[in-house]
Amino acid sequence: MANRNPEFEEIFSGVRCGTEADTMSLGRQIASKVKSSLILSLEGPLGAGKTCFVKGLANGLGIDCDEVSSPTFTLVHEYTGGRIPLVHFDLYRLESEEELLPLGFEEYLGTPGIVAIEWGGKFPGSLPTGTWRLSFAIDPDGRKIQAALAS
Ligand SMILES: Nc1ncnc2c1ncn2[C@@H]1O[C@H](COP(=O)(O)OP(=O)(O)O)[C@@H](O)[C@H]1O
Ligand SMILES: [Mg+2]
Repeated sequence: MANRNPEFEEIFSGVRCGTEADTMSLGRQIASKVKSSLILSLEGPLGAGKTCFVKGLANGLGIDCDEVSSPTFTLVHEYTGGRIPLVHFDLYRLESEEELLPLGFEEYLGTPGIVAIEWGGKFPGSLPTGTWRLSFAIDPDGRKIQAALAS
């Protein structure tokens, strides 16, 4: 399983990001280690840094991170200009799992590249085994990010 990368296990064993730059840097670091594919569910409250982390992923793949914003209205953005593709979902506004179908969710999960799913924890049953579920928490020292591998 591509996601079972010991380097990720170490990085995700619990990280504190004091600043926005640290959160972006974490994304960059992860992106640089992905060989062909990685699925990430980004969880936690509004303002916790999920989109900021995706900007870091983009940057690490050589995609202009200013292009990355919360795809609140389109729900999915695909960036193909980098080393491998980056697909960015934001499921915040989704009300039911059935709404994933017209977004091409399943198809994207099967394609090479990084798939980053903000609010993926709303529909845990739709996350494939091996998805890294990253939980972003706001705390007085910045952001704390913890990970668990979906089974
Ligand atoms: N350590 C940090 N990591 C990420 N964002 C931070 C941090 N500290 C402050 N921020 C601020 O919090 C906000 C995070 O926004 P965003 O990444 O859009 O969150 P989300 O996508 O989780 O709603 C930004 O305004 C950012 O400047
Ligand atoms: Mg966001």
